[in-house]
Amino acid sequence: MDAGIQIFSGNSNRPLAERISRHLDVQLGKALVDRFSDGETRVEIQSNVRGSDVFIIQSTCAPVDHHVMEAVIMADACRRASAHRITLVTPYFGYARQERKSAPRTPITAKLVADIITASGVDRVLALELHTSAIQGFFNIPVDHLFSKPVFAEYFKSKFPSVKENMLVVSPDAGGVERARAMAKVFNCGLAIVDKRRDQPNESAVMNVIGDVKGKQCLIVDDIVDTGGSLTKAAAALIEQGATGVSAAISHAVLSGPALTRIENSVLDELVVTDSIPLSIDAEKISKIKQLTLSELLAKAIRRIHNAESVSSLFL
Ligand code: R5P
Repeated sequence: MDAGIQIFSGNSNRPLAERISRHLDVQLGKALVDRFSDGETRVEIQSNVRGSDVFIIQSTCAPVDHHVMEAVIMADACRRASAHRITLVTPYFGYARQERKSAPRTPITAKLVADIITASGVDRVLALELHTSAIQGFFNIPVDHLFSKPVFAEYFKSKFPSVKENMLVVSPDAGGVERARAMAKVFNCGLAIVDKRRDQPNESAVMNVIGDVKGKQCLIVDDIVDTGGSLTKAAAALIEQGATGVSAAISHAVLSGPALTRIENSVLDELVVTDSIPLSIDAEKISKIKQLTLSELLAKAIRRIHNAESVSSLFL
């Protein structure tokens, strides 16, 4: 049986879902994804999904809990409507930073959310730039884990065509070294690390820059910019150490709390993010913030999953 593709979107990132659907040349499926008057999520899949290869596109960005519920309730509805297979496409996976016990008697919420998703009837997950790759193992179903590196690499290659020898990729903390190293490989350039110590959640203190950044055009690479503390402090430390300029390539623009003010007032030349999370109207007004789309990459991955082809070639 040829199970045709059907794509549905939750409410977290409809613009991205629409872009993906245009790349795939598959119309978004009809679904009511709303709330009852008491606030409960209300879902009604209005297209026939019996025997279909269903892709639900939903970033679990803020309001995170609500968007998780939309995703799992949509999956439940598709499963009960006899979909052949259900893939949750979650370009941004919320709760990813709660992936281990950070103190006694704290939860591992990323694992709990993975269990909830699996219990809802999702057969596989397509994620992008997870905070740590080990989160794949939280799911007992297949997880394809894409990276935004190809999207950023294309942009920065055309932006800095001739500064290769002057360029330096920087990880804003020790945990992000692998990600930054992969980007440094693309540019065939060196790597520096900012030694970040965090006293409180959502607060960061830059302690030390490891590597010679003097005279370098620095590119900070990270998975998430949330309050902007890590990024703007790292950028300031790099300039203090003699970097000539600092840009950043960060996949998920969470941008909560003081982020926008911090970024606007920072020494950063440019912050390049993806559309894994839609930008707020205020974020769109900040000229330093540029958004690149993941839609083509995600559409290719969806097509390959549907055709049972390799997805790993998209990692390069
Ligand atoms: C932390 O390990 C992450 O990779 C990000 O660096 C962090 O979540 C960014 O948070 P904030 O923008 O609030 O400093």
